[in-house]
Amino acid sequence: METTAPIIEWNPRLRAQFGLRPLQLNHRLHLHPLFSEAALARLLDQVGREDYYVNTMDVTSHNLRSRREGEIRALSGEQVMEAVRSGQIWILLLRPHKVEPGYRELLQEIYAELQHAIPGFQTKFEMMSILISSPKIQVYYHCDIPGQSLWQVRGHKHVHVYPNRPPFLDQAALERIALGQAHEISLPYDEQFEQQATVFDLQPGQMLHWPLNSPHRIVNGDCVNVSFTTEHFTPTIRRMFYVNCANGILRNHFGAKHLAQDTAGMKYWTKLALVAAYKLSGNKSKRRKVLKVDFAVDPSAPRGIRDIPPYEFAR
Ligand SMILES: [Fe+2]
Repeated sequence: METTAPIIEWNPRLRAQFGLRPLQLNHRLHLHPLFSEAALARLLDQVGREDYYVNTMDVTSHNLRSRREGEIRALSGEQVMEAVRSGQIWILLLRPHKVEPGYRELLQEIYAELQHAIPGFQTKFEMMSILISSPKIQVYYHCDIPGQSLWQVRGHKHVHVYPNRPPFLDQAALERIALGQAHEISLPYDEQFEQQATVFDLQPGQMLHWPLNSPHRIVNGDCVNVSFTTEHFTPTIRRMFYVNCANGILRNHFGAKHLAQDTAGMKYWTKLALVAAYKLSGNKSKRRKVLKVDFAVDPSAPRGIRDIPPYEFAR
């Protein structure tokens, strides 16, 4: 019978604590051909406009206003990689399986292993995104709505992970993010939070998984970084998402406070109905993100970016 080596080096502690606290695990996917330089250049050659973000921001401070949206136009994947090496840009590639179906197969392999390794872990939705980023670039303090893991492929970065409770995770801000009314980095940050941060120096072949909605921020080492995220919804995470949406509607439109977090029973079903009614009333369309794009990636320009006339791009 054919057997394949596990993707993750599991042990009983990691299985028992998965999802309950920030964990660092060892994996072997940094050696996978889908993450070779050539494979990434091919992906960058072919990625559609709706399937990437490229940003730049100040690398020396936590300055949300310095964060800008850009575009990749008329460049080969190799040229984009050159801009990453010499510049200050951060590229997020969404849905890489649209270019290369192998990424979806790998994602399925990863989740098959997670479901096998962790008792009771069942997902209803999974997604992979690839991050290619310049030396010293940051990802500012934020939280994500799905369950999430960060896998390091090349380079190294410091990842600060914070508790998923107030004041680190502001409930009203989380609700606005869940509703699509605010960007993830709108989560309030205070330097005092660092006292409670768990800081990881993430190296190739290491992966982080943190409890749901745990805020985190990232600072690249002085080297090009290649990482990818895997994200998922379990039935419980899906319910938490609906509860946060409903609580956001109740807080914003009805001035409610002290909102319950129940994910079962009559309170939950009433909230689910509220979210459905909210979406049916046309509010779903407001969830489209409108980006103000004002730079183009340019390997020959300082910081790898060239100013362009600003325009809006809805996604
Ligand atoms: Fe994140």
